[in-house]
Amino acid sequence: MADERRGEWGSRVGFILAAAGSAVGLGNVWKFPYITGENGGGLFVLIYLVCILAVGLPIMIAEVMLGRMSQRSPVSAFKQLAGDKSLWRGVGWIGVLAGFVILSYYSVVAGWALEYTVFSASGAIEGADPAALTQRFGQVAGNGSGAILWHVAFMAITIAIVIGGVQKGVEIAARVLMPLLLLMFIALLIFASQLEGFGEGASFVFGLHTDNFGPGSVLEALGHSFFTLSVGMGAMLTYGSYLKKDDDIVVASVAITVIDTLVALMACLVLFPITFTYGMEPAAGPSLVFQNIPIALAQLPGSTIWAVTFFLLLVFAALTSAISLLEVTASYFIDELGWSRSVAVPVTGGAIILLGIPSALAASSHTFGAGMEAAIGMNWFDLFDYVSSNWMLPLCGLGISLFAAWRVGEQARRVQFAAGSTLGKIEGLYVAWLQVLRFVVPIAIVLIMLHALKVFELLGLTGAT
Ligand code: TRP
Repeated sequence: MADERRGEWGSRVGFILAAAGSAVGLGNVWKFPYITGENGGGLFVLIYLVCILAVGLPIMIAEVMLGRMSQRSPVSAFKQLAGDKSLWRGVGWIGVLAGFVILSYYSVVAGWALEYTVFSASGAIEGADPAALTQRFGQVAGNGSGAILWHVAFMAITIAIVIGGVQKGVEIAARVLMPLLLLMFIALLIFASQLEGFGEGASFVFGLHTDNFGPGSVLEALGHSFFTLSVGMGAMLTYGSYLKKDDDIVVASVAITVIDTLVALMACLVLFPITFTYGMEPAAGPSLVFQNIPIALAQLPGSTIWAVTFFLLLVFAALTSAISLLEVTASYFIDELGWSRSVAVPVTGGAIILLGIPSALAASSHTFGAGMEAAIGMNWFDLFDYVSSNWMLPLCGLGISLFAAWRVGEQARRVQFAAGSTLGKIEGLYVAWLQVLRFVVPIAIVLIMLHALKVFELLGLTGAT
């Protein structure tokens, strides 16, 4: 029985659209290209694709499944399925905490995108000089109070939509925006393919270079495969809890994964040709998309329209992702503490706004948190990103996979896998998925974590890399 207070998707594609809207976001357009640049290109991309297929997709199926079985948000889901006092609740807590941390800095980046939308609309990009546009990012991000204001503005929009509830807010936003975003990327790809640096850009993304690929790169690829698919936090679990009994989990998960991966690869194939054509640095870091796109578009006729469309779509892509992050954190208070939606959403959203302030300041100025940067090599912004993507999401994902593969009853798991699906009824596919979830996923996550902690080096098992 669907619980009135919880809501349900309005249509079969509603879930796919909303979940794909959650998956496709700044992770694809902003983060993936910049970490690909930092980790040297093709080899990183390859390992990321392996992580998506061998770890991310199997966990997504498991996560959505636990959501539909429990009809709850993460923490209550584990209570419902494992018992009120069960330690499995901890997996849900890590997820809820990750949601707070991720959205806090995610919204800062989305705020920059909002600012760039307004800046583009002013017509200032038209014919502007590349050096000036490169510097401009520093001025935007470097203006602490401005960054905070745009962060607050973005959170306010997110809060307003999430208060509207799943069906009205999330589904409608995703239904309109997802197709538009894809169209925009196709247009940009055609544009990039005409650039002189297209060949070099494409070979950066698909050639297997090993330079700049370090010991941390595998962990980064793993963490990003969770981040980009929105798994390992309970967001997909929460969205899965609004599914009907006979919706097809397997096909939906495959579709979401394919769309998400395509957008990420397209973003790289747009950004790196621009990078090489204009002699820029691939390892520019978080500023990559904000510098490259305006520089390239400035040369085009109608650059204002192009740039406004691009940044607006980026804001929308961020919005459908931010909605899912806020939905999970708010659902915790709705399901666990019985708060109403109209209280839970602004209160959690407000807390996230406060938590984001250090990131807004840190990403911007080198004076704020300079001591911290000197001590650990990361500012607040980097630290939040690193800890949440590379550690919290994989840990929570590990819990989800162990639970779904070892603890959930065979009968119930089979029913969930096969429901409403022709693909899900194929025995071999079910067995393969289960074995991957039982062995490959947990072993891969643990090994990659140990590797990143340099445990093998300490044990003298591998030489220093
Ligand atoms: N996947 C989104 C992106 O790529 C970010 C995101 C939304 C997310 N919801 C999430 C990441 C839940 C982890 C968990 O931009």
